[in-house]
Amino acid sequence: SALPALIERLPKAELHLHIEGSLEPELIFALAQRNGVALPYASVEALRAAYAFTDLQSFLDIYYAGASVLLQEQDFFDMAWAYLLRAQADQVVRAELFFDPQTHTERGVPFEVVIRGLHRACRQAQASLGVSADLILCFLRHLSEEEALATLQQALPYRDLFIGVGLDSAERGHPPEKFARVFAQARALGLHVVAHAGEEGPPAYVWSALDVLQVERIDHGVRSVEDPALMDRLAAQGVPLTVCPLSNLKLCVVRDLADHPLPTLLAAGLKATINADDPAYFGGYLNDNWRATFAALPQLGPAQAYALARHSLEATFAPPEVQAAWV
Ligand code: HPA
Ligand code: ZN
Repeated sequence: SALPALIERLPKAELHLHIEGSLEPELIFALAQRNGVALPYASVEALRAAYAFTDLQSFLDIYYAGASVLLQEQDFFDMAWAYLLRAQADQVVRAELFFDPQTHTERGVPFEVVIRGLHRACRQAQASLGVSADLILCFLRHLSEEEALATLQQALPYRDLFIGVGLDSAERGHPPEKFARVFAQARALGLHVVAHAGEEGPPAYVWSALDVLQVERIDHGVRSVEDPALMDRLAAQGVPLTVCPLSNLKLCVVRDLADHPLPTLLAAGLKATINADDPAYFGGYLNDNWRATFAALPQLGPAQAYALARHSLEATFAPPEVQAAWV
């Protein structure tokens, strides 16, 4: 059928992409060598073989270990540039990149080093790839709200280098309302706000992300299908969901892609989108996610492909003059 060709060529936005999750084993080894960092794996193959996850935490442990090779501004640039080249090949016209400053500042890497390297890659993508790219600062929810508040303070001198804040890392036991004050501060600064909710956590976390944090999008949100009143709310309010099918499969959120709730979300009128989450760890970039999802779910056809691409473009935080180029 023409579906694979349609998937390739549709312009799309990527709205749920952890830039540290785009770090391929080859680049981890190259940066380890460049920076003199010792790795507990003998080879690229041995590292990749360790990518067998049973849940979110088993992934996070290895994901934070991989990020330990990032030390210099050029390292952050190289990582983001490699992703943005890959995104361009998947017809991504807009990318909103999550980054986890606390993963780096905890290791003594200055906030400025992280954000300057990432931001330079975003500007170069706009100028030479035609990919519009911006940064969203994520707070690690397994850490305290005081640490998130300190991170926001650290980020204030660089307020113009990122467009919003998010919330990621271990979801269970760390509900959105733990971060009520720091999200209120971020909103007062005019930053966009999003949060991971309803990946491993219950529908109640999606409710509190909406009601307490007042987020503009929900990252993942797939467990919303367990709560009919929440489904009605998300549909009525037009809240975008940044769904990550291969991530859900690799972290055992779903048993099989054929069981994925994406068709249910779309049929209920939700503004669902497809995203890669951590492509270097979950076996695929954006179009790999699209292809695998459409191949596994016969309910998804051309109409759903057009809807998913349109949702992604409508859900961006791109400035109006950038969005005008997509219509
Ligand atoms: N969930 C929570 N935290 C994360 C993820 C995720 O899928 N990827 C990177 N950090
Ligand atoms: Zn994520």
